[in-house]
Amino acid sequence: MKPEAITSSYRRWAPIYDMTFGRITHAGRRHATRVVNQTGGQVLEVGVGTGLALPYYAPEIEVTGIDFSEDMLERARAKVAEENLWHVKELRQMDARALDFEDASFDTVVAMHLISVVPDPEQVMAEMARVCRPGGQILLVNHFAREEGWLGWVERGFAPLADLIGWHSNFSKERVLGVGCLQLVEETPLTALGLFTYLKLTRAA
Ligand SMILES: C[S@@+](CC[C@H](N)C(=O)[O-])C[C@H]1O[C@@H](n2cnc3c(N)ncnc32)[C@H](O)[C@@H]1O
Repeated sequence: MKPEAITSSYRRWAPIYDMTFGRITHAGRRHATRVVNQTGGQVLEVGVGTGLALPYYAPEIEVTGIDFSEDMLERARAKVAEENLWHVKELRQMDARALDFEDASFDTVVAMHLISVVPDPEQVMAEMARVCRPGGQILLVNHFAREEGWLGWVERGFAPLADLIGWHSNFSKERVLGVGCLQLVEETPLTALGLFTYLKLTRAA
């Protein structure tokens, strides 16, 4: 998606996100935050959106969130204030293609339902690898394209509407696997139809 399409699309999504797409994607958020809570440390959530995952991080985990859309971030900030989420260190407007953090700043980088939205997923993967410490982990939750079956056919049909709906419906998993220092160590289908997938990648030590 183009940056201007992200802004306009997520301006429309922000008021209804939690009760629509946010509801059907709950499983991935719970799964990824459980993994984070077992490992601890400094966490960066890229594309934090309305902050739906923020209440699920354990209180001792220090979470930084970034998002391109101010409309989505505004809602995340409201959750932090209303729910006293003191473990959330910072929420900043930022483009995931150029993360404003030093190399190796985080133990874990999480990106849920983000990678098929961003304009340049390969660059975003490279940036997430850069800010993750050697030996650290990158956790992705996303929908990835299916080659076969009627669902694959539906996904390809929706593909031209990416700017309107807010993500690419036929995004290939291969596009997140090209960063040399990252190794895929786990792949778990989530939900009954395998609509969403959890991927864990580790950064070479
Ligand atoms: C489908 S929402 C997912 C939000 C959240 N991760 C969740 O699971 O509910 C995608 C988010 O990615 C953000 N986004 C899109 N492109 C971005 C970019 N280049 N940099 C940072 N955030 C971006 C959007 O603003 C939106 O909040």
